[in-house]
Amino acid sequence: MHHPVEPEFVGRTYDDFLFRPQLSIVASRQDVSLKTHLSRRLGLDLPVVASNMDSVTGAEMAKALALEGGIGFVHRGMAIAAQGDAVARVKRTYGHIVEQPLCLPRDATIREAREFTAKHHITGILIEETRVSGILVGLLSNRDLPWIEGLEDHRVEEFMTPVEKLVTGPPNISVEEAEQRMFAHRIEKLPLVDRHHHIIRGLITKKELILARQRPYSSKDGKGRLLVGAAIGARGDFLERAAEILRAGADVLLIDIAHGHSAVMRRAVEAVRAKFGEVELVCGNVGTAEGAAFLLDLGVDAIKVGIGPGRGCRTRLETAAGVPQLQAIREAWCAVGESVPIISDGGVRDDKDIFLALICGASSVMLGSMLSGTDEAPGFVIEDPGTGEKRKIYRGMTSPQAVFDALYSDESPDAAERALGVPAEGQEIQMPHKGSVVDILHRMRGHLRSAVSYAGEETLAAVRAKTVLDPLRYLTPLSPAARDESYER
Ligand code: XMP
Repeated sequence: MHHPVEPEFVGRTYDDFLFRPQLSIVASRQDVSLKTHLSRRLGLDLPVVASNMDSVTGAEMAKALALEGGIGFVHRGMAIAAQGDAVARVKRTYGHIVEQPLCLPRDATIREAREFTAKHHITGILIEETRVSGILVGLLSNRDLPWIEGLEDHRVEEFMTPVEKLVTGPPNISVEEAEQRMFAHRIEKLPLVDRHHHIIRGLITKKELILARQRPYSSKDGKGRLLVGAAIGARGDFLERAAEILRAGADVLLIDIAHGHSAVMRRAVEAVRAKFGEVELVCGNVGTAEGAAFLLDLGVDAIKVGIGPGRGCRTRLETAAGVPQLQAIREAWCAVGESVPIISDGGVRDDKDIFLALICGASSVMLGSMLSGTDEAPGFVIEDPGTGEKRKIYRGMTSPQAVFDALYSDESPDAAERALGVPAEGQEIQMPHKGSVVDILHRMRGHLRSAVSYAGEETLAAVRAKTVLDPLRYLTPLSPAARDESYER
C-alpha cells in the first residue's frame, strides 16, 4: 500500500468540497486537452465512460461516446449473440476501412436488399457472385435501389454497378491515396479487392473518411475503428460471452459485479487470463483501499470504483455496505497510485463532480443517469398523457424490471440466479427526455476545460499531476452554509 487515505476524505463525497481557483494560464479554452487513460493500454480524449446498464449503453450510446472521445461498455442483459452484434455494429460503423463489408449475392432480390440496408443501417451493399464467395461482382448503392413500384422481386444484379465499371483499390491502399482516388472519380465507396480474382478485402467510404477528419479526437483503434467495451459478468456463461464479444471486435472486457473484492472475482479474472491471455480487462466494483489493492494484485488493466453511489442503486439502503464516492476514489488511489488507472463509477450528478473525481485520483468517470434519458440510450420515449412531458426509463441493473427483462431475453443461468436468489438492490426512475447525448458530452467537455483553466494548467494531465499527490491543498471543505451558498439555487 502507498499510504493511508487522508482523514479529511473519510465520510466525504463530491458536494463536500470546492476547488480553490489558481492563477490561470489558458489563452483559449478550446485548446485545453482532456486526454487521459481508460486502462493500461487504452487512451481517451474525454474522460467519460458510458455505464454498462441496459437503460444506458447499447450500440448507439457506445458509438456516440467513442465519437466524442470517450467510450461505452455494452451491457450484458441480453443474449450473447445480441451483445456480440451490438459490439460488431460499433466496430463496423466507422473506421478507415470496413474490413468485412456486408455483402449480398447477385441473385438476391431488391426487397432483400432494401431490408438488408435498413437492418444494418448502411447506404450501399457490395454484391458478390454467390453467398460467402467473397468474389466482387458489383455495388448496389441507395441510389440504385428502384423507387418506382413493381420491381421488388427483381434481382439486384439488374440494378448494381457491375464490377467492370467500379473503381476499386488494393487492400493496402493508404488513407490519402483512397481519398484522392475517390475524389477523382467522385465516388463515395471504394471496394478494396485483390487485383486478380476480385476477392473482397474491405471497403472505404467517404462518410468515414470525412468523419475521421472532422473528429480527430474520437476514440479509435489502430485501424481507425471506434473503441468499444463490453461487460461479461463473472459466472455462468461469462467465458462464452467473452469469446463472442472479442470475436465481434471489442477492445476491452469488463468484469462487473456488485462486490468485486471477492473470491468470485479472483476466479473470474484467472479464468479470463487463462483463456484470453493479455486481453484488456477492467474489473470492479470495489470501494476500499483493500479492494483496489486486491484487483491490482490480480493484474487487471483498470479498477472500477464505486459501492452504492449510483442513482438507480439501493445497495447502501438495503445492506449498509458502501463508501462515500470521493473517499472511495481516494482510498483506491492511495492504494494503487498511478500503477493502474481508476474508473470512478456512479454518483456523478453535476459536471463538477467529474473534475473532483479526476483530481482526487480517478482517470475517467463512468456515468449512468447523466447519460440516460437521451436519444442514444436504449428504450422508448414515454409521453405523460396529462402533462405532455416526455421521459425515458433509467433503472438499476439489479432492479426487479431489469432482472426480469434479462431473464426473458437471455435465459442465462446467471440472470436466473440473480432473479431468484438476491433481493433487488436497484430501482427504476423516469428521466426527462434530454435529446442527444452528444450535446451533453459537449457540455461536459466545455465544463472540464473551464475547470482546467481555473486549476491553472493547460491540460487535464497537468492538473492531475499536481493535484493527485495532495488534493487537499486544492480543496476547501464546505460547511452546511457554504454548501447552501454553493449549490442551493
Ligand atoms: P449513476 O449515478 O451514474 O450510477 O447513475 C451508475 C452506476 O450505478 C451502478 N448500478 C447499480 N448499483 N444496484 C447497484 O447497487 C443496481 O441495480 C445498479 N445498477 C447500476 C453501476 O455501477 C452504474 O455504472
